[in-house]
Amino acid sequence: MANKNINNNILSKHKTLKEEVKRHNRLYHSKDKPEITDFDFDQLFQELIDLESKYPDLDISDSPTQKVGGEANSPFKKVKHRKPMLSLANSYNTDDIVEFDERVKKFLRIDKSENVAIEYFAELKLDGLSMELVYEGGKLVRALTRGDGAVGEDVLLNVKKIRSIPEKINHKELLEVRGEVIILKEDFASLNKFLEENDLFTFANPRNAAAGAIRRLEGPSYGEKLKLSFFAYATGDYEGIKFETQKQLEDKLEKLGFPVVEKKLVCVSDNIQDIVAYYNSIEKQRSELPFDIDGIVIKVNKFSLQDDLGLVARSPRWATAAKFQPVQAETIIERIDVQVGRTGALTPVAIMKPVKVGGVTITNATLHNQDELSKKDVRIGDTVIIQRAGDVIPEVVRVVLEKRPKNAKAFIIPTECPICSSKAEKAEDEAVLRCTNAFCPAIITESIKHFISRRAMNMEKVGDRLIEILVEKELIKSASDLYTLKKEDLLALDRQGEKSVDNILKSIEASKKSTLNRFIYGLGIRFVGEQTAKLLADHYLKMPAMMETTADELEKIPEIGPKVSASILQWLKQKRNQKEIAELLKSGITFEEKKRSSTGKLSGQSFVVTGTLPVKRDEAHAMIEENGGKLLSGVSSKLNYLVIGEDGGSKIDKAESLGVKMISWDDFLKLLK
Ligand code: IVH
Repeated sequence: MANKNINNNILSKHKTLKEEVKRHNRLYHSKDKPEITDFDFDQLFQELIDLESKYPDLDISDSPTQKVGGEANSPFKKVKHRKPMLSLANSYNTDDIVEFDERVKKFLRIDKSENVAIEYFAELKLDGLSMELVYEGGKLVRALTRGDGAVGEDVLLNVKKIRSIPEKINHKELLEVRGEVIILKEDFASLNKFLEENDLFTFANPRNAAAGAIRRLEGPSYGEKLKLSFFAYATGDYEGIKFETQKQLEDKLEKLGFPVVEKKLVCVSDNIQDIVAYYNSIEKQRSELPFDIDGIVIKVNKFSLQDDLGLVARSPRWATAAKFQPVQAETIIERIDVQVGRTGALTPVAIMKPVKVGGVTITNATLHNQDELSKKDVRIGDTVIIQRAGDVIPEVVRVVLEKRPKNAKAFIIPTECPICSSKAEKAEDEAVLRCTNAFCPAIITESIKHFISRRAMNMEKVGDRLIEILVEKELIKSASDLYTLKKEDLLALDRQGEKSVDNILKSIEASKKSTLNRFIYGLGIRFVGEQTAKLLADHYLKMPAMMETTADELEKIPEIGPKVSASILQWLKQKRNQKEIAELLKSGITFEEKKRSSTGKLSGQSFVVTGTLPVKRDEAHAMIEENGGKLLSGVSSKLNYLVIGEDGGSKIDKAESLGVKMISWDDFLKLLK
């Protein structure tokens, strides 16, 4: 995927961010007079890292991301690969696959008439970033990016967060395992949702998200949300094992505990027509796979033949990437709708003549906001090229200007809400226009949809469309009205039978047994995503306690800074919200009892864990929570203990500079005694 073009907006955003981070750094380090909390600083810093990962062409030479502890330094250590990491020659159609077979045979001097077959191993070409995992003495000691093929960067600390990568293996000699770090489509969607809810940058596609994640420095904000995956498909250098074929290699890696792509998604055959059929069949399955692929890779299965074939330039002669046609298509913009979201944000959406892209019919594509829309200058009637970004989200790539109708006018998002006609305004530092009417039916509908959603109150049988109808018919005006719906009301709706109405009511009833975390999250307070909701629930234990809170109290909670606290107070202050909470609680919603384990050995203390411990990370976290301790996602001045394992990273420096107490795993166990 080509890099996103950098426009002036991005450039100036980058400049501002760099300056802001530098200023706060100075205030913190040299003047000792921080203006913002550590958490807010980390978010700002992360935003800068994310921006730079998303737009690799930005000038980062003077960026604070390049400095660690004040010294100019790339944050990651450069390490030479023992064996160069090569790239693959590309082909784009089935004829190219047949030609590849012919080239291989020609090079090996196998005459067509001889009818000698070469066995091929074909597998998915994963669209992520390649990674080399170096094991020495059975332990993961380095994780190198490809870099320029000769020298990569050691991103071990971030790679260690990938659950499926074993930190220890049952092979004591050197082993370098190569494969692809990717983010599953599902994890990508929830990551972006989280980022959006917290008004952070969203990633354009899974590849960018995975690349951005790997370049992240250790830090809080959304660390836990970054669920990456890894699949192994090759080796670098190794000792003490033998493989004769690619197939054996992958089987062996799997036995050692590495994830490899499912066997039913690979093809081993000595008939090139089988490989062609495999290519076609994978292309058809592409959209249903849990991750993005951009083609297949065909390898000569036998290593002895691979050695005979050798390299041309920097690609092996024994392998080729057969890529799929890019999933782009041309269509026409029929209209541009402006949709209103839960927070009142006005989002322009292109409604297009339906067109198939990579096997999926596309009709809508978000145009994000006025800045994006103006940059692409999309107009009604325009012919556009669209694609599914990273194979999932449809986006408008560009306008085909030659085909623009003569009278087409630039589209400007109205400063009036398209639903309720109230004024829409832009907040000072935002690109987004928001409807200012808190009673706007669109805001109400979207808020209720959020309340019932799976991760909030989870009313499984209540669909979004039903909510739209109920609001339209004025049967509900807020989420609490759902709990007083009558069977007759629902039966009176079009196409609602007895059985489905019963299911709906059952599902509403079932949602009453919930947790305070889910409830608070479901309220849809700005900047309160799932994680913050959990912190709030843990802190207040009961809704009434939270309702009476103050800014001071809120900011005692780790990770809640002035911005989030102001948003929560502003929400709680409104009479209408107070009434809604009272109604909801009155309807019989109950919460699983939350116990502050005041009896726990660690109660009242907060912890962060870094480095490799004798137990799994999850286990350590569970031990802390079970004993009443609180887990924070990053080091800040509010942290009580940093528990340090082997190879702890930058967190240690930070804890040191903040004077946070650091303890070893053994010390930690002593606390539990
Ligand atoms: S084998 C000689 N197998 O594609 C290179 N690569 O263009 C050996 N890739 O940098 C690589 N899926 O990041 C191989 N199943 C697969 C792959 C794969 C994705 C990537 C890899 C490499 C790039 C080559």
